[in-house]
Amino acid sequence: MSIIEKAASRIDLQRNAPAVAKPPEADAIDAIEAAVLAPVPAAPAPAAAAPAAHAADADARPAQKFSTRRVDLDLNRMRDLGMVTAAGGRTRLLEDFRVIKRPLLQRAFADRAEGEKPGNLIMVTSSLPGEGKTYCAINLAMSIAMELDHTVLLVDADVARPSVLRSLGLPAHRGLMDILLDDKLDMADVMLRTNVDTLSILPAGTSTPRATELLASSAMSSLVDEIANRYPDRVVIFDSPPLLLTSESRVLASHMGQIVMVVEAQTTTQHAVKEALRQLEGYQNVNLIYNKTREFPGIEETYDYHYG
Ligand SMILES: Nc1ncnc2c1ncn2[C@@H]1O[C@H](COP(=O)(O)OP(=O)(O)OP(=O)(O)O)[C@@H](O)[C@H]1O
Ligand SMILES: [Mg+2]
Repeated sequence: MSIIEKAASRIDLQRNAPAVAKPPEADAIDAIEAAVLAPVPAAPAPAAAAPAAHAADADARPAQKFSTRRVDLDLNRMRDLGMVTAAGGRTRLLEDFRVIKRPLLQRAFADRAEGEKPGNLIMVTSSLPGEGKTYCAINLAMSIAMELDHTVLLVDADVARPSVLRSLGLPAHRGLMDILLDDKLDMADVMLRTNVDTLSILPAGTSTPRATELLASSAMSSLVDEIANRYPDRVVIFDSPPLLLTSESRVLASHMGQIVMVVEAQTTTQHAVKEALRQLEGYQNVNLIYNKTREFPGIEETYDYHYG
């Protein structure tokens, strides 16, 4: 049985369980096994992986004064960088994200018990920097946007170190921070439509030294509630900062119906994973993506190799 099939069969088991994917406090490693959506292999380094020249450090530049509010994603470039696109045909990555999104979509619009957060608000986080949060958030967003009956809003909530636009090869635009700083701005003023009709992006926006403070503010909480009320039929994916370095992710997590925690294979320590899961205790629907897995000859299940 392949890694993906094993992960998928776990998900089938979870479907029959009442509290899906909530890690038991007692044993975080068992929790990892229970909640893993699917491992994502490290995509092979692309032959021509150099980012488009104009995008070299786009997010570091000052935001444009007026957003065009419509951007074109370079789907061929994204495909060459190993991202999910409709241009890429049937790839292993596409299949992996198909497996990953299935249980998330099932819960996104499921009936909610009283007090439960909206399932269509999904945060992607990790313990530490560089584990693949932005990569997984973009791929998840693209994968869901490619479905006929789902629209997606991808929010760059990693406001201190935004990278969604840069990863997509796009220049900086106004976004989240601008709405929080300027009462007169509305979400619709800064949201970007894309050439993938079902995908919109809310960028992090103009960089400000108050970014971290604003992300944890009550204004941000109200904004997340507004997003939930305004777009109840959209899947909203929040790319967010690492859990162990800042407190904003925890605040953000408290508004989310589902949390996806990315764990970098062979790099993130058990201690870091346990500590991050401890911070998410009590939150609904915490799922794990085991990212950048590599297959070893004779070892089929790479996450057992790492955590065994
Ligand atoms: N499965 C994968 N295959 C190939 N490359 C990957 C994979 N996951 C992530 N990467 C690459 O690893 C690097 C770090 O990923 P990414 O920027 O998504 O991490 P992050 O967790 O968002 O980091 P930060 O905490 O700095 O925001 C990027 O160059 C990304 O393209
Ligand atoms: Mg990131």
